[in-house]
Amino acid sequence: MKRFHGRVVLVTGAASGIGRASAVRLASEGAILLCADRNLAGVEETVADLGGEAAACALDVADSISCEAAVAAAIGRWGRLDALCNIAGIGGFGHAAEIDDASWRRLIDINLTGVFAMSRAALPHLLASQGNIVNIASAAGLVGTPYAAAYSASKAGVVGLTRSLAVEYATRGVRVNAICPGAVDTPLIAGGFDAIEGVEPRLFERMTPLLGPMARPEDIAAAVAFLASDDARFITGAILAVDGGQTAA
Ligand code: NAI
Repeated sequence: MKRFHGRVVLVTGAASGIGRASAVRLASEGAILLCADRNLAGVEETVADLGGEAAACALDVADSISCEAAVAAAIGRWGRLDALCNIAGIGGFGHAAEIDDASWRRLIDINLTGVFAMSRAALPHLLASQGNIVNIASAAGLVGTPYAAAYSASKAGVVGLTRSLAVEYATRGVRVNAICPGAVDTPLIAGGFDAIEGVEPRLFERMTPLLGPMARPEDIAAAVAFLASDDARFITGAILAVDGGQTAA
């Protein structure tokens, strides 16, 4: 049974890591995919590897016009949108007192405002299809995470936005959920904390996933596919930790 047969799904951040793995997983389950990313060459590579029906699209989620254009591209090509997976994001790690205004704003613009702008553009079409949104937040949006003040704030914002949209749209048939991964083996965290001088190693003890050193992008993609599918038809407003038990402690 292909859960996404005939369904159109827009995946942001599909050039790399979790977004790419999610596109691969969704395509394997029959989805028609618009793979969108700031890295156009990367997202074209993803599409070339997928087989099935898919297209690549340049997207900067920090630019609301670009977000509207990506949704319009899916509608223009296939006439419908069944699911939006907001996966694009950036890391940003360092001592809180050293974050400058431009870095703070950039992180919030991409990780939080980008999720809002994509959702706003997609919602009219998701209302028409009775579709859903899956956001990638983070364990850092659930519990205090050192040296990640802007990143944590952006992801806690995604958790709040997810719950708010879920409640507002539930009676109109659109589901909205979020996944909170712990550490996932992707370029986003490669060397992230190692480059910071003067960290207190003790503070990282609370960030240990109990199930193993790190998740694979495919572990998160499986949860994305579940929440975006009809198997999750009675789930909305859920904040699903996929973190190997990190936040269960
Ligand atoms: P990644 O760096 O492998 O992939 C992120 C993708 O987002 C890249 O293809 C990048 O080009 C794209 N992107 C960045 N800024 C963009 C923009 N302004 N517009 C459009 N595309 C943009 O990283 P990863 O790990 O796959 O991250 C995906 C999501 O998962 C992010 O939201 C991240 O915050 C979240 N996450 C990652 C964790 C990890 O440990 N890797 C843990 C928890 C959450």
